[in-house]
Amino acid sequence: MSDQSGSSVSIFTVVLAAGMGTRMESDMPKVMHQIGSRPMVGHVLDLCRQLGAKDCAVVVGPDMEEVAETARDEFDDAGIFEQSERLGTAHAVLAARSALEEQALAAPNGIVLVLYGDTPLLTQEALGGLIEALQGDADVGVLGFKAEDPTGYGRLLVDDGGQLTAIREEKDASDVERAVRLCNSGVMGFKAGHMLSLLDKVGCDNAKGEYYLTDVIGLAREAGLKAVVTLCREEDVLGVNDRVQLAEAEGLFQVRAREKAMLGGATLVAPETVFFSHDTVTGRDVVIEPHVVFGPGVRVGDKVVVHSFCHFEGAVIQTGAVVGPYARLRPGAAIGEAAKVGNFCEVKNAAIADGAKVNHLSYIGDAEVGVKANIGAGTITCNYDGFFKHKTVIGAGSFVGSNSSLIAPVVIGEGAYIGSGSVISANVPDDALAITRPDRRTLEGWARKYRASQKRRKYALSQKKITGDE
Ligand code: UD1
Ligand code: MG
Repeated sequence: MSDQSGSSVSIFTVVLAAGMGTRMESDMPKVMHQIGSRPMVGHVLDLCRQLGAKDCAVVVGPDMEEVAETARDEFDDAGIFEQSERLGTAHAVLAARSALEEQALAAPNGIVLVLYGDTPLLTQEALGGLIEALQGDADVGVLGFKAEDPTGYGRLLVDDGGQLTAIREEKDASDVERAVRLCNSGVMGFKAGHMLSLLDKVGCDNAKGEYYLTDVIGLAREAGLKAVVTLCREEDVLGVNDRVQLAEAEGLFQVRAREKAMLGGATLVAPETVFFSHDTVTGRDVVIEPHVVFGPGVRVGDKVVVHSFCHFEGAVIQTGAVVGPYARLRPGAAIGEAAKVGNFCEVKNAAIADGAKVNHLSYIGDAEVGVKANIGAGTITCNYDGFFKHKTVIGAGSFVGSNSSLIAPVVIGEGAYIGSGSVISANVPDDALAITRPDRRTLEGWARKYRASQKRRKYALSQKKITGDE
């Protein structure tokens, strides 16, 4: 049963994530590279969830515990299967044989989809037609697309009646077949009851000597089964093989994320300069000025203004707050309603309560800043002693004068004043003034006398140089 897609047939997914991706030139498995601050395989597993898949098998390569862990985080109870040798896509799918057997027994008319961990932009909409066909009388289906340039892809061969007859890999294709622009995305779907008998018939007598998943189409037709192709956009099935394609996928992801934010009520003055994370949430009547980067875990409430050049990560910004320009919000920053965090301020693991202001050049870390408190320019919470972090609590309505250092742990009482330039290392009571500024000395005329004596000294030295005196 599917919750979110409304489908009446169960969906099971197999996600191939075995390739290291040699062209990535990386020590990290390919599917762990990120798009929108989330590993590519995470995007695919999120799609499985959106589809209402009740279960999911992830096929990893040897020594890919990291991928397995990410998969389990992203999809509860994801089954992890290892493909120990890379012998082709059909061989990879068969690594999950036990799960497929279970599926065929439990729901022979259920749908099994084969997805790829390195194809992170696929959407529920793009898969809609394929799922619908498999809910109907199709036994096997392929997601295809019309390629601008079909080079490298398997070609979809259709008969006069429009039925899919075979998929031909480029290396095995004739010249006529190579001219076909209808390409295989790699994504395939099966009625669970037919899947294993087809996969078990796949051989490796081809140019690459691999077990091709794509061969199941020809085999299905020979067995009198119905094979269909449904179409999607080329960009939905962009596969990432190197870092150029990774950047291309990131670009497409960002276009979608910006559109989502704008259609949800955020004004992006220069959308192409704003970068979102997969989980960024933005409200209505938000304004985001140019050049802002959202790391993971950021929520922006309604009517928030984000001025240019900000960097956010793990932060919540409440209704009507104004942030930036040049503000950095780090994990645990909670900016209250109508609060202000201005230029060159960094906030980490700190709550800035409603209406409070931290407007210029401050570091507020491991702290609570009370309602309507005013933090003067250059105020620093000294939260770290080289071993441990300590907390600073700044009371509601208090006023911290500019360039003060608050040495944690310390509590500034409600309504208290801190004189500018103070170093505060002990608690300050409510409504008190604390000031640690040294007494001032003024020496009348000192500067004039100093200048005169220095000038005389400089003249004497220059005379010595000319006469050669030592
Ligand atoms: C495959 C398709 C091709 C399609 C193209 C779309 C086959 C035989 N060909 O070709 O028709 O147009 O994708 O991009 O399926 N993998 C494994 N284990 C293996 C082999 C592959 O996990 O033993 C994974 C890869 O990591 C990759 C995916 O399967 O994510 C596709 O494999 P790849 O070798 O890239 O196939 P292509 O030659 O691109
Ligand atoms: Mg490929």
